Amino acid sequence: MCGIVGAVAERNITAILVEGLKRLEYRGYDSAGVAVYTNDEKLERLRRPGKVSELEQALAEEALVGRLGIAHTRWATHGAPCERNAHPHFSGDLAVVHNGIIENHEALREQLKALGYVFTSDTDTEVIAHLLNHKLKDLRDLAVALKATVKELHGAYGLAVISAQQPDRLVAARSGSPLVIGLGLGENFLASDQLALRQVTDRFMYLEEGDIAEIRRDSVQIWDVAGQAVERQTVQYSDGAEAADKGEFRHYMLKEIHEQPSVVQRTLEGRLSQNQVLVQAFGPQAAELFAKVRNVQIVACGTSYHAGMVARYWLEELAGIPCQVEVASEFRYRKVVVQPDTLFVTISQSGETADTLAALRNAKELGFLASLAICNVGISSLVRESDLTLLTQAGREIGVASTKAFTTQLVGLLLLTLSLGQVRGSLAAGVEATLVEELRRLPTRLGEALAMDSTVEKIAELFAEKNHTLFLGRGAQFPVAMEGALKLKEISYIHAEAYPAGELKHGPLALVDNDMPVVTVAPNNELLEKLKSNLQEVRARGGELIVFADEKAGMTNGEGTHVVQMPHIHDILSPILYTVPLQLLSYYVAVLKGTDVDQPRNLAKSVTVE
Ligand code: G6P
Repeated sequence: MCGIVGAVAERNITAILVEGLKRLEYRGYDSAGVAVYTNDEKLERLRRPGKVSELEQALAEEALVGRLGIAHTRWATHGAPCERNAHPHFSGDLAVVHNGIIENHEALREQLKALGYVFTSDTDTEVIAHLLNHKLKDLRDLAVALKATVKELHGAYGLAVISAQQPDRLVAARSGSPLVIGLGLGENFLASDQLALRQVTDRFMYLEEGDIAEIRRDSVQIWDVAGQAVERQTVQYSDGAEAADKGEFRHYMLKEIHEQPSVVQRTLEGRLSQNQVLVQAFGPQAAELFAKVRNVQIVACGTSYHAGMVARYWLEELAGIPCQVEVASEFRYRKVVVQPDTLFVTISQSGETADTLAALRNAKELGFLASLAICNVGISSLVRESDLTLLTQAGREIGVASTKAFTTQLVGLLLLTLSLGQVRGSLAAGVEATLVEELRRLPTRLGEALAMDSTVEKIAELFAEKNHTLFLGRGAQFPVAMEGALKLKEISYIHAEAYPAGELKHGPLALVDNDMPVVTVAPNNELLEKLKSNLQEVRARGGELIVFADEKAGMTNGEGTHVVQMPHIHDILSPILYTVPLQLLSYYVAVLKGTDVDQPRNLAKSVTVE
């Protein structure tokens, strides 16, 4: 979603800003812009709809050279993705970039118009620029004026501002949208994600909710929500600049799909003893808290929500713990009845998803036993604000369509299920040792599933001309089917729906004909025979079947039926394994259709607005 980069230095900062924007591209955006206080002592900007490369091209023709600047990638919320609406927004001689949404922008716009301010965009952000300009007239100091301005804003914001009147500083404010200061020697930076700045520094200071910052070349001053001057801890990363490198792969998504054996291995490391899960992997108080848990409430968005849906099957079947799963955008606005001793679990790749964070904050008021975040980013808001954490070790995920984050989340959730069952003594005899053994073999099984890459690539050809697809699954494979359908629609733009196979006769069968391929996953479990009957119903209506089936399931190719044999796996782990061919399928369909696989249209990697 929107990205912010800012810099104040002794050297020309334009290339640093553009490089920062490129490093944020993976978040998804639809226009980009930069404002620089130039060496001619003027505030100038360039903005372009489309990719950062187009902005870069424009800068090559019309260079902006200066030592102070801000830049932005915009994901449209208010107003179309065109140059006029792209950030930075100007008012007089100040420039503003903004992540988030200002909910009272209409009322403020009317007030500012009455004061004579002229609006040139449809954005909520322009309101901030004019309001700040107005405050600055009396208050003079940029940080003081920003403090007064944010008091009037309702909604979420990460803000960076520069002014030609005070060209030795940039000022910033955080409420609901993350911001981090990058510390250099005689130069300092700002960004919405430290990744944007790894080419210039490895030392960072994270702003907290409500903070205002004034960043100069050689100093950083921060005030908290109460206006008190505060120090924020400096974090140093030692692993050098993280390379955003596709390696031998054509797309990040394919690379990330192929990383799954190693990242699953990493997610397991240090978390298993000989035949048990180490409960303390969830934090020092985990054993004591888990012993009290009688219910689990899971809240997440998108792919992470699908991981939660799989976990419900595991928690109820293996640990005997009732579990509810809900998308965060619904949970946060609903009157919820909380059962006693309920553990509140959030799942998130980024740890910054606005709805998931808001749900966690609400949950704190609702009397949950404790909160646990299963998250891929250790320095995220979600992790900072949760009582317990299990970090997935997927590494940086760049493809907007989540792949390795999902499978590592599933591993984390299975570790959670076994930990809760272990502490509460509710697991059947021998189950934990068996599953620990199976988890150790999982990276090898995932490698075997990836070896089917070229088989799946051929199957993808069946989809290239289709407009609709149905995904079917039963039991814990139903959320896997949902995830398969989500992947296909996200990156190939083919309409895809998932149904529990048993619901076929209650509606979707009406859609089935030879233009509607039906994809299904068929591990060898007690639901297999029922699933086979459902598939017959599809064949009888001329629907073409693509079945990913256990090698022992006794399913073979036939007229209109394409069977891909999957390595045998313990049924509990099958959702993790069967996800892989569905990821590959959507990837190859998207490649055939020539879509932008890593940055699909209209979507964002990190959804930091609701
Ligand atoms: C966006 C991403 C998805 C992701 C979802 C939740 O929609 O495109 O890939 O599943 O947000 O994000 P989170 O970071 O909370 O897992």
